[in-house]
Amino acid sequence: MTHFIDVASLSHFIRRRSATELMSKLVGYLEQDYLRWGEFDKSARLAAHSEVGVIELMPIADDKLYSFKYVNGHPNNPQQLLPTVMAFGVLADVGTGYPLLLSELTLVTALRTAATSVMAAKYLARPGSTSMALIGNGSQSEFQALAFHSQLGITELRCFDVDPAASEKLKANLSGYPDLKVEICPSAAEACEGADIITTVTADKRLATILTADMVSPGVHINAVGGDCPGKTELERAVLEQSEIFVEYEPQSRIEGDIQQLPASHQVTEMWRVIAGEQPGRTEEQQITVFDSVGFALEDYSALRMLHEYACQGELGSDFNLIPQLDNPKNLFQLLLANEPVQQKAKVAV
Ligand SMILES: NC(=O)c1ccc[n+]([C@@H]2O[C@H](COP(=O)([O-])OP(=O)(O)OC[C@H]3O[C@@H](n4cnc5c(N)ncnc54)[C@H](O)[C@@H]3O)[C@@H](O)[C@H]2O)c1
Repeated sequence: MTHFIDVASLSHFIRRRSATELMSKLVGYLEQDYLRWGEFDKSARLAAHSEVGVIELMPIADDKLYSFKYVNGHPNNPQQLLPTVMAFGVLADVGTGYPLLLSELTLVTALRTAATSVMAAKYLARPGSTSMALIGNGSQSEFQALAFHSQLGITELRCFDVDPAASEKLKANLSGYPDLKVEICPSAAEACEGADIITTVTADKRLATILTADMVSPGVHINAVGGDCPGKTELERAVLEQSEIFVEYEPQSRIEGDIQQLPASHQVTEMWRVIAGEQPGRTEEQQITVFDSVGFALEDYSALRMLHEYACQGELGSDFNLIPQLDNPKNLFQLLLANEPVQQKAKVAV
């Protein structure tokens, strides 16, 4: 049987365990998998672009598990009462190809993106950072805020969105966290004033300049999340030119990240090297660091791996027949002949 996790089951599970606990656990899974970087069969994701958005497939595998995520990015979707980013994914057994888990990944994407941001910031942000500017206050924003609050000690959030209702929604959703002060600012520039970390997580399918060089002070860490497609960026090129840049998987980030604005010869560092201790993260107090996040398949693999473990412990989801289980595996036709449902065999062992 295949495990199935739908939105209701996952939301219930997150409410029970708490988003902060799960994002903290997920950072552990991410680091374990980033440390096994060389064991993965990696590729840049396969993207189908249209004028209004993108639909992407994100596959990855090691010698035991295979995963893929289906995800879109349609910044105008909220006008049709649909989220900008929607996703689902599969975890499968490499030995047999059997799909072990089919899961919703819209909520999971928000958790894993925030966990990845925090994982990078642990190595790149100035120690003792307490304030963060959060530009773009849509679906991802609360997750980013809570991950940085709970794991990096951010206690002051300075928010800005071109849609004031989005910022009000963010503030209301975070009202249950009295140790996190949330201030709505009248502009992105004012949000960035005095911030130790700047997170940009806007959705706009163009070469935008959410962040210009004059808004960035020495020592700041920039967590750039929303520039993740060809022709969709957030940082002014000058910001990149004055920063030390870190990416997930360079071949994909060159196409999709904010670094698409730079020549291919411009030096960037893949995060796995920093996590493995091969290369340093932040080296100086006054350095400006950028995590040019686009979202890499490995992060969804880690999230699916974690969810599958909870599902196997009976904590999450249900089981269903995605694949026929046959008395005679060469007799698929028997499914058409049986009057009674074919008896199901025992659960496939992994
Ligand atoms: N790097 C990753 O791994 C990753 C993962 C998930 C989402 N994303 C990207 O993050 C972005 C945000 O995703 P979301 O699900 O929160 O989308 P969303 O549509 O829910 O929210 C985006 C917000 O950005 C605001 N915005 C647009 N232009 C702005 C500007 N110039 N200044 C300030 N605010 C502006 C919008 O008003 C909206 O509230 C998207 O671009 C998405 O593709 C990246």
